[in-house]
Order: sequence, then structure tokens, then C-alpha cells
Amino acid sequence: MINVAIVGATGVVGKMFLKVLEEKKLNIDSYVLLASSKSKGKKVKFMDKEYIVEELTEHSFDNNRFQYALFSAGASVAEKYAKIAAQNGCIVIDNSSCFRMDKSVPLVVPQVNMEDAYDNFNIISNPNCSTIQAVIPLKVLDDKYKIKRVIYSTYQAVSGAGKKGIDDLLNNTTEKFQYPIVNNCIPQIDVFLDNGYSKEEMKMIEETRKILKKPRLPVTATCVRVPVLNCHSESISVELEYDFKIDDIKSLLNNSKGIIVLDDIKREIYPINTFVTGTDEVYIGRIRRDFSVENGINFWCVADNIRKGAASNAVEILENILKKT
Ligand SMILES: NC(=O)c1ccc[n+]([C@@H]2O[C@H](COP(=O)([O-])OP(=O)(O)OC[C@H]3O[C@@H](n4cnc5c(N)ncnc54)[C@H](OP(=O)(O)O)[C@@H]3O)[C@@H](O)[C@H]2O)c1
Repeated sequence: MINVAIVGATGVVGKMFLKVLEEKKLNIDSYVLLASSKSKGKKVKFMDKEYIVEELTEHSFDNNRFQYALFSAGASVAEKYAKIAAQNGCIVIDNSSCFRMDKSVPLVVPQVNMEDAYDNFNIISNPNCSTIQAVIPLKVLDDKYKIKRVIYSTYQAVSGAGKKGIDDLLNNTTEKFQYPIVNNCIPQIDVFLDNGYSKEEMKMIEETRKILKKPRLPVTATCVRVPVLNCHSESISVELEYDFKIDDIKSLLNNSKGIIVLDDIKREIYPINTFVTGTDEVYIGRIRRDFSVENGINFWCVADNIRKGAASNAVEILENILKKT
């Protein structure tokens, strides 16, 4: 029997877990939906059945009740309950930042480093949404041309900040963001650190190095919240070790798993949020040489932050583990 817990099932990512699981139809016998006390008893339609949401407690994982758990309930919930789940024989795939930089926890994007998850770990971390979509093309470029430096500038959707972030855009409130998100680009995602960077920027820098196994890779980032409902857009500049032909880069990316190149400037074609939303691929466009450095390229990268940036990535990890066992 394979029993799976969905922790944070009522949140933005949690609901997407349910949608992606419905689409994928994995070989799983039962699911239990867990959330805070606020949602206890709530009815949720899933897989043509009505599920009653349970409150997450210290006893939710008793008696080795689950073999796997998908967590998307924030870092403080993960800190406490993922460990309890793991102690009760459950493999946890966690969406929060809690364990991402823990050396003993693999940080996994299936298209990039799935092999890191196969070594009997009981907690596996899902990277930050903005990192996931970036490392997929970066890995492809690194394998052929060796990456020397990366500059990220992000344009991140409000859905990346959960239910409250979406409400701030739809209702013009400031429950989640520091300033009204309507009509503003806010150059702050998460709190600021002593080094002048935001936590989101440092997550992108450190997670990129960990996933690509390049601990000293020069990476810098500026992360900005923009008044867009869904899909993160990123301008990525990369310096490569080896020279390249721009058409070779375009076909290399286009022939890589999980990437779709939309790049035809004559016809004004490039990735756009409302087109990308609802998909699991990373869309790349505006691929061009960066004339300001040797062997540099610039490109535009868009992905659905709730799907590939969170739920689909975690479910793909689970799917691959299930295939192996
Ligand atoms: N949104 C994204 O693009 C994205 C991408 C990657 C990673 N993530 C990460 O995924 C996690 C969830 O994000 P989200 O956007 O889905 O947030 P959200 O919409 O605010 O949902 C949070 C979920 O966590 C549950 N929860 C909160 N406190 C809890 C507690 N004490 N015990 C049990 N459940 C609790 C909530 O339950 P109630 O409904 O009962 O309050 C809800 O189901 C965060 O760690 C976030 O950083 C989000």
C-alpha cells in the first residue's frame, strides 16, 4: 500500500498538488489532506471523491501511516512536522526553504539532478520557484559550454507569495507586500539580509550553486515582485567558458527535455505569462549574444511558478522515486 499525505493541501501550491496528481494518475492507493486547524473539516473534491481536510498535528504520522508526504505549508511547519514524518518512516518532499541548504538534504530538479534523490533520503527539498526554472536551461548550457558567471533579474508573480499575495493584487490591499502591488514593481522579495541582498536573492544564488554542484560559481541576483498574477519571468545573463554560435544555443535549448524555445523576433514571438500559465515546461526566448563580455548570452525565461516552480516539480520527484522502487 502506498499512502500519501498532502500537507498544506488548502494553499495555492497544495491545490496545485491535487490538480497535478489528478492529471498524472500515479500508482498511489490513498491520500490524506492536511492543513491548519482553520481548515479542519473542510470538504475538498479530489480524484472524483470528497475528502475531509484533517488538522496537522504531532500525531498525524503515527504508526507509519504514510510512505510519502508532499509538504507545502511553509518553513516553520516543515521544521517541526517534516522531521516527525521522517521519524515515522515517511519520505518527505518539502516545498519550503527549511531544508534547502542543509548539506544532508538533496535539493532536486528532476531534469537536472534527479540522481541526488535516490540515496535513501527521508527528506528531499524542492528548490525555490525562481531557481527551478533557471537551473534547467543553465544545466544544459553548462554541460556543453561551461558556465562562468550568472546574472539574474527576476519579475515575479504575486501567486509566488501564496493566497495573501494574490489577494493583494486582486483587492489592492497590503496584507502581504510592503507597498501596494497594483501599479508598482517592488524590489523586495522576503526580508533583507545584512549583506544588502534580499533572502530571495540569496536563495537563488545559493540554490543554483548547490543544484549545479558549483559551490564557487559567481552568481548575482535582483528579485522584483511585479503586478502579474502568475508565472515568473527572468532575464538571465550567462558568461560561458567556450565560444558558441547563437543558433547552436537555440537548437540545444530547444532539443532539451522540459524546455520550449519561443524565439522569433521578426514575428514578435517570445514567452508571455498568460501563454505559459498552466504548463510544466520552461519557456525561453530573446536568446542573443551579450556583446559586453566574451562568450556571453542573454535570454528571457518564463515558467508557471505554481506548477513547475512548485507542485509539478515535487510530484515529478515523487513519480521518479516510485518508478525506482
Ligand atoms: N506559491 C509559490 O509559487 C511557491 C513556489 C515554491 C514554493 N512555495 C512554498 O510552498 C509553501 C506554501 O506556499 P503557498 O504559496 O501554497 O502558501 P499559501 O497559499 O499561504 O498556503 C499555505 C498552506 O499551508 C497551510 N498551513 C499554514 N500553517 C499551517 C500549520 N500550522 N499547520 C498546517 N498547515 C498549515 C495552510 O493551511 P490553511 O489553509 O488551513 O491556513 C495552507 O494549506 C511555502 O513554503 C512557499 O514558500 C510556494
